[in-house]
Amino acid sequence: MAPRTKPEHAVIPETRQAEIIADLNGMLAHMIDISTSAKQAHWNVHGPNFQGLHELFDVIVDEARTYADDIAERAVAIGGTAHGTIQDVAKGSTFQPFPTDEHQWEPLVRAMHERLSGASAKLQEIIHTTEDDLTTQDLYIEIQRTLDKRAWMLEAHLK
Ligand SMILES: [Fe+2]
Repeated sequence: MAPRTKPEHAVIPETRQAEIIADLNGMLAHMIDISTSAKQAHWNVHGPNFQGLHELFDVIVDEARTYADDIAERAVAIGGTAHGTIQDVAKGSTFQPFPTDEHQWEPLVRAMHERLSGASAKLQEIIHTTEDDLTTQDLYIEIQRTLDKRAWMLEAHLK
């Protein structure tokens, strides 16, 4: 199928556009990674604040899925292809493997916190490179704000 035509206002050179799309796909992989990891934590967590963490992990799942969708659709809207299969995510995510046999709340919270702050740090870098695409930059800023909020909420359990 022919690629979607770009919006009229997209006057960014092709090479730069390709970089923006590649960065969007990189962030897509990390958002899908966060959503599946948070689901893993949601299912397996045990501990004194079970209910709070069980629910907080699921809030993170929902937000990461929403942002994955926004990122993927932004990539396509500016003329790219979204790469969001499990295989793409396995190749694109730079996070350490999420613990798969863990039930204790503390290591799960720490592992999730590491992912949220890791994604926030990646966003911090690409936010500053997207001055030429403020619509994409705006999306990144919104995602970072949410990741930082959830990281703080997880951190509050550890203090
Ligand atoms: Fe559930």
